[in-house]
Amino acid sequence: MTKLVIEGKTRLQGVVKISTAKNAILPIIAATLLTGEECQLDEVSDLEDVKTMKEVMDSIGVDINCDKDKLTVNPGKIKGNEPPYELIRKMRASFLIMGPLLARTGKVKISLPGGCAIGSRPIDLHLKGFAAMGASISLGHGYIEAQTQGRLQGKSIYLDFPSVGATENIMMAACLADGITIIENAAEEPEIVDLANFLNKMGAKVRGTGTDIIRIEGVKELNGVSHTAIPDRIEAGSFMVAAAASGGDVLIDYVIPDHMRPITAKLKEMGVHIEEYERSIRVKSTGIFNSVDIKTLPYPGFPTDMQAQMMAAMCSAEGTSMITETVFENRFMHIDELKRMGAKIKVHGRSAIIEGTPGILTGSKVKATDLRAGAALLIASLCAEGQTEISDVYHIDRGYVSIEDKFSKLGAKVYRIEE
Ligand code: EPZ
Repeated sequence: MTKLVIEGKTRLQGVVKISTAKNAILPIIAATLLTGEECQLDEVSDLEDVKTMKEVMDSIGVDINCDKDKLTVNPGKIKGNEPPYELIRKMRASFLIMGPLLARTGKVKISLPGGCAIGSRPIDLHLKGFAAMGASISLGHGYIEAQTQGRLQGKSIYLDFPSVGATENIMMAACLADGITIIENAAEEPEIVDLANFLNKMGAKVRGTGTDIIRIEGVKELNGVSHTAIPDRIEAGSFMVAAAASGGDVLIDYVIPDHMRPITAKLKEMGVHIEEYERSIRVKSTGIFNSVDIKTLPYPGFPTDMQAQMMAAMCSAEGTSMITETVFENRFMHIDELKRMGAKIKVHGRSAIIEGTPGILTGSKVKATDLRAGAALLIASLCAEGQTEISDVYHIDRGYVSIEDKFSKLGAKVYRIEE
């Protein structure tokens, strides 16, 4: 079993370069299915989730090759429309091929993605969109089958919740539909804007991403293009919080400051020093900082993917903070692990009350319960007295490229060991 071992009481110093965004690359790989021509994605992060998406594309006969950080996709010949259950189960984002595959081939059979550690993760809004556009949907034996006679039809679709995945899946399907599709109460995340930029490069007509109303005018076909995804705002945020919590001085390079607004605002409330430049942000902290309250919301609110990392920092803040998770129903799995390190946290429904005490954390053996919880435990271990061991590191590898190398370059004493 792989573990990360981290020596505590380490201030991070130096420069870290952020990778391209996992949550932009994954839908963009799915979007390549909308054309029969070659697409090239540059600076693709070597993440487990990208490898899984590659397996999903392989499973339907699409030619996808990785040469260092260049991904070349040849979706000319799609030899199937039934990706295997274990791949969809392994990574929910695999479900994003449903819209493109339905629009391109008129038929897709895909297993229900199932829940995961952070919640039940339903897909009702995705299916509501496809059905509205004329697809016939049937459920059975853990599979969903969607079919359409001819092209999907452009329609107005209201999302009961601004779901990122549903917005992306419906937007991609609408690109090849007959007529105009309007998505109301759409998600506004930067990764959706980046996906629309990729689609429009291909010849699509998508307008309004980044707002809650997206308009897509369907076209007959799309062309192959090349693209580099935006920087990963959650990886960047994770390093910003790590620098603040550890009392460090770090320049986070290759970011879009505007995407970091909610996190930057909270770090300023904590009394941390922030310097913003065109493509980088400097975070300087004494290691003593105020407690702040957090409520996660869809973008541009505070991101749920940064909730665990902020909670780790609040354990060592001066004072009590309240963190409310409004996006997922079960994203507090990291609390038990933080409490093993000495954190004082109480859960009341969807809120956690953290009694912050500088120096309270002690190194312990803990387990990553999901991708961002793993990053949170790494942050907590930098502040802890003594050594921490994090197991189930595969969760972290899903979303962070060689996390121990990036932290080591900032002075952290973190080692990956195989047991
Ligand atoms: C995306 O997941 C991200 N994943 C998640 O990042 C992120 O946490 C999430 O958006 C919220 O920002 C990728 O982009 C690959 P949602 P997604 O659909 O699309 C409910 C990470 O750490 N919902 O916006 O699955 C759902 O239950 C991952 O990188 C429905 O009710 O998130 C949840 O409560 C974790 N019906 C809420 O919406 C639906 O049909 C948000 O889910 C779909 C969603």
